[in-house]
Amino acid sequence: MSRTLPGNTGPSTLWLYNENYPLVIRTKRNEPFTAEFHNELREHSTIHWHGVRVPYGMDGVPYMPHDPVKPGDSFTYHFSPPDPGTFFFHPHCNTVEALGRGLAGVLIVEDPRDQGLFDLEHVLVLKDWRSRPDGSFADFLTDGGAARAGTFGDLRTVNGEVMPTLTVPPGARVRLRILNVDSTRIPMLNLRGAANPVVIATDGNACDPFALNGWRLGPAMRADVAFIAPTKTGAEIVLEDVFSTRPRPLAKLVTAGDGLRSTKAVLRLPAAELPMPDLKAATTLDIQLLAGSLDPALETWAKQNGVSIDELCLTQKVFWSINRQAWPGAAHDRKPPPLFELKSGKSYVAELFNGTPHQHPMHLHGHTFRVLSSSERDLPPHWADTVLVRPKERIRIGFVAGQPGDWMFHCHIIEHQETGMMGYLRVT
Ligand code: C2O
Ligand code: CU
Repeated sequence: MSRTLPGNTGPSTLWLYNENYPLVIRTKRNEPFTAEFHNELREHSTIHWHGVRVPYGMDGVPYMPHDPVKPGDSFTYHFSPPDPGTFFFHPHCNTVEALGRGLAGVLIVEDPRDQGLFDLEHVLVLKDWRSRPDGSFADFLTDGGAARAGTFGDLRTVNGEVMPTLTVPPGARVRLRILNVDSTRIPMLNLRGAANPVVIATDGNACDPFALNGWRLGPAMRADVAFIAPTKTGAEIVLEDVFSTRPRPLAKLVTAGDGLRSTKAVLRLPAAELPMPDLKAATTLDIQLLAGSLDPALETWAKQNGVSIDELCLTQKVFWSINRQAWPGAAHDRKPPPLFELKSGKSYVAELFNGTPHQHPMHLHGHTFRVLSSSERDLPPHWADTVLVRPKERIRIGFVAGQPGDWMFHCHIIEHQETGMMGYLRVT
């Protein structure tokens, strides 16, 4: 199936998985999953399974450890997802353009333990598109955006549609799997018209339910939300972004069809089963998110390898760093030293400090970490693979170092990642 976006001139400008947006794949926890990836783009690509604790070889980061898949070539990803939840997948090369053109898919890992907890679920994929009036795409990366909060799309969609309407049976126990696959936008979610909607999973992982209202869903973050639909037909529930004073409606749910009277409504999921860090024994890692200049280590590297800095800088604008080490996205093949070296099975607490004036959704590959606390706000402790760190905020996350490998750690505002806010943790 090929499709165009509202206002778009043609499908040729979109890059899609199986000509679908969004492609939603369902699989089961602990069961073997295989994806045959054929690259029909004119540039190399990979698939990163965001949030899934895959074996290192399946992580889909170019050169770490598998080579990018060349145009016309194929690669088979196979793993058994150990955790249930709402995940997504995307390329890890030229990511700002690839995501900008629509390369993002949903991977739902079903949990047999969820059976019968909800009457229905909807998957809602949030993404804005950078469209010009003639329907073509505007630049995905701009210096002004990359150096600040990112370059925003103007066409706001849910599941590729502007303000879609979905239906739910009256009285139904509803589960929404909400994914933000945008590269920039950080909406504050609200469900107008729903009684007490609660977040029941963060980045796919069950949590103690907490009120949805105002929850910020940064790029790559997911929230599973549950509520009981109103009992009369024709009632409207609107998913909106309340970031500004005038809420921005994104999608509508309307009650229709036969009413359901749920006898027992337990709006929570069975507890997540993840390695809990031992906070007493944990080693602390200090991580500073900074506005950056070119990293001295990269300069040294360039000298040693006979590459002129100009050559690097030509495509490599550097606006950001992690602990003063900048690694721009397009320089995936020029690997700097790791930010930290960890021992598999040991517990760590990372203190993320944001020393910049912008928010950063920080993502660690291959691990699901426990968000422990914030210096600035009450944060319900929860599991995540991406955590939003606000300006001046210090956030503590705890995790058990997983499988050996070099695991990426970067901002998921892709323009920040592409301009330096990227590094990796080495687990041995
Ligand atoms: Cu979803 Cu390294 O990213
Ligand atoms: Cu950032």
